[in-house]
Amino acid sequence: MAGGLPTHFKLYTGALIPSLGFGTWQAAKGQVGNAVAHALRTGYRHIDCAWDYGNEAEVGAAIRDSGIPRSELWITSKLWNGYHRPQDVAEKYHQTTKNLNAGYLDLYLIHWPVAFSLGPDGKPMDYPRDKDGNVLVDYALTDDYVSTWRGMEQLVDGSETAPRHIGISNFNIRKWKHLLSEAKTRPAVNQCEMNFAWPQPELVKWAKENGQQLEAYAPLGSGAKSKELLADPTVVEIATKNGVSPSRVLLSWQIQRGNVVLAKSVTPARIEDNFFLFKLAEEDFQKMEKMSAAYPNKARVVDPQWGGLDIFQDWKQ
Ligand SMILES: NC(=O)c1ccc[n+]([C@@H]2O[C@H](COP(=O)([O-])OP(=O)(O)OC[C@H]3O[C@@H](n4cnc5c(N)ncnc54)[C@H](OP(=O)(O)O)[C@@H]3O)[C@@H](O)[C@H]2O)c1
Repeated sequence: MAGGLPTHFKLYTGALIPSLGFGTWQAAKGQVGNAVAHALRTGYRHIDCAWDYGNEAEVGAAIRDSGIPRSELWITSKLWNGYHRPQDVAEKYHQTTKNLNAGYLDLYLIHWPVAFSLGPDGKPMDYPRDKDGNVLVDYALTDDYVSTWRGMEQLVDGSETAPRHIGISNFNIRKWKHLLSEAKTRPAVNQCEMNFAWPQPELVKWAKENGQQLEAYAPLGSGAKSKELLADPTVVEIATKNGVSPSRVLLSWQIQRGNVVLAKSVTPARIEDNFFLFKLAEEDFQKMEKMSAAYPNKARVVDPQWGGLDIFQDWKQ
């Protein structure tokens, strides 16, 4: 990373989180290990993982084989929706640290403010379903995300394996505010979708005004929308002017907005390209803000709607 952007952001604990992270969602088994290895060789030191991605063991092996000291890495993972009962949190956390061979996590997030029902045997499972294949949501526990947070807080016990930070993902402003008012240990970050087609200026403004750290996921539009965003005329114009790829413009813009940015690729040349980010000229930065806010067909890429829930409804008010 180069070019006038902060390489790290300071969290409320004083810890420094690398501003660029490497994403591992939809990176297939058999591919993800090589991708992580290449990212680490390129210089990425922040890897974003999740139980639900189903590839943590391969990610962990690549991290271990890199030989990079653990203390130089920032490793994040996430608690899956099936394990929101406070008594299930610790077991799941330790499964993930074991999978990742990480010893501890730098950051452990509640992946979604959505809790799934128990499985038919009364035990937690990844995807409990009814006979028609619909995922079963526990609506009461979904509302009671503070109790899940209590389970997260209990992890932070100062032990060697404890997560150094805990945080949230996909929380809207109302839920985030409420959790902050109830928390004994404050969430260190909120990881949310933010990209040119879904810039969330009100969320960014609220975080800034309240001293909170956001992480931008799907900054390139994820698999489904990256072609469209990378070909956007404003993005292409600014990229051409600076002699860089559209991808670098989209990623740099997020860091310049104050957000940690998480970019995924399994393609070596792209992994390298995405690493070299730069500060946009003020007029270009403002143009990105303006044109993203006016994006014609604004929509999220990631919007699972389990159990008919509009998880983000308060963000659309
Ligand atoms: N908390 C959550 O709920 C949540 C949700 C979504 C994502 N995330 C995290 O955020 C990370 C990033 O988001 P994402 O994976 O959804 O999407 P993304 O990083 O916005 O986009 C990834 C897509 O862009 C392509 N790409 C990457 N670099 C490129 C380049 N320089 N030029 C052209 N195409 C390029 C990739 O293709 P190739 O891989 O084929 O190169 C892939 O199809 C995830 O991997 C995950 O760690 C979190």
